[in-house]
Amino acid sequence: MNFEALLAARLQPALAATAGTPVDPAVRRSPHADYQSGAALPLARTSAKAPNGKGGKGPRDIAADVIAKADFVGLATAEVSGPGFINLTVQDDVIAAAVRELAGDERLGVAPVAKPQRVLVDYSAPNAAKELTVGHLRSTVIGDAAVRVLEWLGHDVMRANHLGDWGTSFGMIIEYAIRFGQEHDVYRAARIAFDTDDEFRESARRRVVLLQAGDPETRAVWRRLLDRTKTDFLAAYERLGVTLTAADFAGESAYQDQLDSVVAELDDKGLLVASDGALCVFPAGFRGRDGGPLPLIVRKSDGGYGYATTDLAALRHRTTELRADRLLYVVGAPQSTHFAMVFAVAQDAGWLPGTVRAEHVAFGSILGEDGRMFRSRSGDSVKLAEVLDEAVARAAVRNGDPAIAAAVGVGAIKYADLSGDRRGNYVFDWDRMLAQIGNTGPYLQYAYARIQSILHRAGDFAPGVVIGEPAERALALELCAFEPVITGVAESLDLHRLAGYLYSLAASFSTFYEHCPVLKAAAGVRESRLTLCLATGRTLGKGLDLLGIQTPQRLGSGS
Ligand code: ARG
Repeated sequence: MNFEALLAARLQPALAATAGTPVDPAVRRSPHADYQSGAALPLARTSAKAPNGKGGKGPRDIAADVIAKADFVGLATAEVSGPGFINLTVQDDVIAAAVRELAGDERLGVAPVAKPQRVLVDYSAPNAAKELTVGHLRSTVIGDAAVRVLEWLGHDVMRANHLGDWGTSFGMIIEYAIRFGQEHDVYRAARIAFDTDDEFRESARRRVVLLQAGDPETRAVWRRLLDRTKTDFLAAYERLGVTLTAADFAGESAYQDQLDSVVAELDDKGLLVASDGALCVFPAGFRGRDGGPLPLIVRKSDGGYGYATTDLAALRHRTTELRADRLLYVVGAPQSTHFAMVFAVAQDAGWLPGTVRAEHVAFGSILGEDGRMFRSRSGDSVKLAEVLDEAVARAAVRNGDPAIAAAVGVGAIKYADLSGDRRGNYVFDWDRMLAQIGNTGPYLQYAYARIQSILHRAGDFAPGVVIGEPAERALALELCAFEPVITGVAESLDLHRLAGYLYSLAASFSTFYEHCPVLKAAAGVRESRLTLCLATGRTLGKGLDLLGIQTPQRLGSGS
């Protein structure tokens, strides 16, 4: 139920009549009322003044005018508050009916979008020469939650795992594999050889050329290494509960045969500039540190193509062949200039028409408790599998059942990643993410399980809602806010808003449960409270599912 929208629709004509022009009703949740509109405040500044500059209505008078003109019948009551806010209180019977409906609605009041878009989400995208580290966690977890939300809303979602499966690091590991007859876990050793042995480094570079030229032996080893890595990645995705499959791999190598034509097309359109032997595009508005125009290099001076050219090819493929309406790139914030430039060049080249939205869904880094990049004690990047193992082991202390410990441990890590604004960095803190109180995965899983246990003990009941206690009303109102949260997240990909909503829903439930006995309540009240439990349980369950977090029916020993 989108009360914000319903209230805004009632305010709109009254505001327009008062202001003489359309005004954004700006209805928001508020601690001072159910909802609040600040729309009257700016109107005072623009309201007609007498020729002597005096007079003009104050914001409180304007707010009162708007209220007098608005029709809130059957929905809410309104009053002026403070300097000229409009406080809106939704009628109890309206809230009760809305929750009664939610409790019985598969979709919890969230209708599928009227106009589904084809949305391509580029996420995870690890470098396939290396093994998965915590560095890949954020893109994988944020991207998968975005996919789940968009898909649930009815969009046609395509997952693209833009694997780094080409280039220098592959030359390195292939050369190492051929030389030492070893193909497993060779990245670290190959890296050391590359950094310390000039002759190896030269051969590794030649190996890249052989790979690109299609040399059969090189290609065969490459394919074997890649297959093994993909198998490992898929196992990690499964363990993480991430929906990426083998069909979603679309690595850099997939675009190799399109790079010549990308450059040719840029040339045709007159966008190429030769600079120090390289071919570049200079999209308008980008400046380097020295203030000079910033190039996007599409062909290096040695004739090779790089990351940017591949991204241009992928983008062109996605808009022209795959016909995506929206492109989301879930990639760390350090690549923001790269994507801004790729989008600008694609626009200039006509591959990104105005009807298609391309967005860099940027995120910050994971930090250690010392505030620096999260690393292992030896200073290496931390392997994802080790982090998951530790999370599950820690969760197992309180949860004897291995499946439940896995759900809690993995869920805690994912939730910690999703619950803060993705643009910021966050500190990887075991105790905090596994805590059973606070804005954590375990807290929400626990709230869910507790509700399941109440419903289980209650047995069958006839749903219905009557609002009595303030805690019932607060919980019911919170339940109604799911829809605007989901719609907002589909737009902004601010998954922390969904997490924050679930947390405040669980907190409202907690207060309700403290003040309002459920199973022992009188007939009528009991059913109403059980309906609130049911709707809360289903909303928490769906919300956590959209974040990619499991909801065991019970926690604890599992016995
Ligand atoms: N493999 C890249 C990296 O590790 C991320 C790729 C992101 N996607 C893209 N289309 N560039 O930095």
